[in-house]
Amino acid sequence: MSGDLKWNKIMGAGLGTAFVILVVQQVSGMVYHTKTPEKMGYFVDAPDEAAGGAEVVLPTDWGTVLPTADIAAGQAAFARCQACHTISNGGADGIGPNLWHVVGGPVMHRAGFAYSDAMAKHKAEAPTWGYDELDHFITAPNRYVSGTKMSFAGIRDTQVRINLIAYLRSQGSDGYAIPAPDPARQPGAAEEAAPAEAAAEGAAATEPTAAPAEGAAATADVQATPPAA
Ligand code: HEC
Repeated sequence: MSGDLKWNKIMGAGLGTAFVILVVQQVSGMVYHTKTPEKMGYFVDAPDEAAGGAEVVLPTDWGTVLPTADIAAGQAAFARCQACHTISNGGADGIGPNLWHVVGGPVMHRAGFAYSDAMAKHKAEAPTWGYDELDHFITAPNRYVSGTKMSFAGIRDTQVRINLIAYLRSQGSDGYAIPAPDPARQPGAAEEAAPAEAAAEGAAATEPTAAPAEGAAATADVQATPPAA
């Protein structure tokens, strides 16, 4: 009798153990199965990142975007630079050099300013602050001019940089020509450029009624230049 009971206990324990093993297998199976889609999700992400990279590499078609840039918005964006830079004609150098007439001018354009060795090295490779060079620098200063003493993280939003560069140009560099629209910069950018342009046009359309006369006049200035193109 007691022997039967013992066997019952042993059988029970055995069944219990088997049950636990089954549960563990099920659970680990679930874990295994949830892991698989995670990995797939990771691989699906990779092409997205590649596409994002392609957008960044694509050069901006200045001839298309500058004439419709929002200079007033660019002036507002310049607030981030003002901690270190003045831009008025004859303005003093601060932590950074005065930026009047910097667009299209020589790198290290202020004779009295103590630039870094990194900037001197950059000047040897790219002596002029053309639109592309400024754009690269403002996107990520320390990535473009490694070791620069301009401690500023950079501006990743392309439209903000376009507006900002249009504003910088309006400060003493109106004479620096806007290049003709460049089809070579457009094909891959077709979907990219269209919304940006539409947004800029929308801003321009609302500007004459909404913005003060000064902003409208500045826009007229920039738009007066490109007809040559
Ligand atoms: C924290 C201070 C700081 C901020 C903020 C800053 N800069 Fe600078 N900037 C500097 C310094 C310092 C230099 C000189 C860099 C060097 O010598 O390596 C410089 C250099 C430059 C130059 C090169 C000038 C020349 O003569 O070659 C340009 C263009 C420029 N800055 C634009 C900007 C713009 C546009 C912004 C805002 C988006 C900005 N900076 C924000 C400190 C700053």
